[in-house]
Amino acid sequence: MSKGLSEYRVFWGEFRRNFHTTGALAPSSRYLARALARFVRVDGSGNGRLGSGPRRILEVGPGTGAVTREIVRRLGPDDTLDLVELNATFVEMLRRRLEHDKSFAAVAPRVRIIHDRVESLPLAPTYDVIISGLPLNNFSRESVESILEALEALVKPGGTVSFFEYVAVRPMRRLVSGRKERDRLRDVGEALQSSLKREVRRDCVLANLPPAWVHHLRFGEKEA
Ligand SMILES: C[S@@+](CC[C@H](N)C(=O)[O-])C[C@H]1O[C@@H](n2cnc3c(N)ncnc32)[C@H](O)[C@@H]1O
Repeated sequence: MSKGLSEYRVFWGEFRRNFHTTGALAPSSRYLARALARFVRVDGSGNGRLGSGPRRILEVGPGTGAVTREIVRRLGPDDTLDLVELNATFVEMLRRRLEHDKSFAAVAPRVRIIHDRVESLPLAPTYDVIISGLPLNNFSRESVESILEALEALVKPGGTVSFFEYVAVRPMRRLVSGRKERDRLRDVGEALQSSLKREVRRDCVLANLPPAWVHHLRFGEKEA
């Protein structure tokens, strides 16, 4: 089976087994991956007040590595990449890719896979760029708030956090949902709104199934 097909097969299997945390039918398209990785620039630009030295990058929820492939392509020679992934099947697939996939293997010594929830990482300002693929619209308000707090705590002052959500996902799901689910979706929308005050750029990616918004947030100095 070809590499691309096996990626889809694994993703589909995990979608069926773990719908809640996988949250998508298929891996992100290359166009969505490019928009998400926008701030991982080879020349280090686009990172606000951050210098041009080696950068630490975190990808949250890499799944089969569809976005990782684009991040890896843009890594500078001294940049490092941490991948935090909850699902053991995806972790195993990422390990194999780091060993056998040519473009992944080239940067493997600078990539670390962490098999855990992002909320469990030590919460210190560590990363210049964070890219999240988490299906926030599947979670409770409390989970979304604690994930957003974790992302904010993990990003360095001047760093960026990029994440996506499918276009009109909340209004569409509200149309076909009962009261409890509608309330949950409203609460998640409210939780996201406060983070979106930090938005510095928004990309619309039509070439993805379904089309998606990519939000890019920038965080300033932290309070002592
Ligand atoms: C929508 S998929 C995105 C996969 C990939 N980034 C892509 O775009 O194709 C969401 C991923 O987040 C992972 N995930 C869900 N909750 C997580 C958490 N709290 N911490 C880390 N990973 C999580 C899932 O296992 C899954 O791999």
